[in-house]
Amino acid sequence: MQITVGIVTVSDRATSGEYEDLGGPALKQAAHEYGWQVLSEAIVPDDPKRIQETIRSFSDQGCGLILATGGTGVAVRDVTPEAIRAIMRLEIPGFGETMRRESMQITPNAILSRSLAAVVERSLVIALPGKPSGAVECLGFVVGAIPHAVALAQRVPTSC
Ligand code: MTE
Repeated sequence: MQITVGIVTVSDRATSGEYEDLGGPALKQAAHEYGWQVLSEAIVPDDPKRIQETIRSFSDQGCGLILATGGTGVAVRDVTPEAIRAIMRLEIPGFGETMRRESMQITPNAILSRSLAAVVERSLVIALPGKPSGAVECLGFVVGAIPHAVALAQRVPTSC
């Protein structure tokens, strides 16, 4: 099954042009290396409504996997987990647990990320940290479970 991907960078500063978006391109390259097809990309501010609209729109465009980067921390504007939880059918806690556990070997600050995975409509949504290297690392820690999780989210017959 070809995995189709949407990538959303969540950042006020990347949206305003104050920062160059490096997280989106880093995830795009990682997606290509995993053999996935990137269908959609967006940069949005740390605004729950914009995050939710983008996830729904990517899902409607047929993205089986939606990768969000940024806004998982504890700063005042970090709202990505809450935005996703408000529209998800269910959360898959093992993704967040694994990303934090493995990332703790790299930096003690990994404990600050509220990274998660959830099923929204027929897509698997994974919220990754904003630092480009952190986003790619975290994706790598859970990549083994992604094909099966995407197939289940898309309701495609699959076996373990
Ligand atoms: N996880 C990994 N693997 N590598 C990292 O560099 N950075 C951490 C953490 N998780 C990091 C990581 C830091 S410094 C923060 S503040 C949190 O992710 C939240 O980042 P975010 O608010 O940009 O999403």
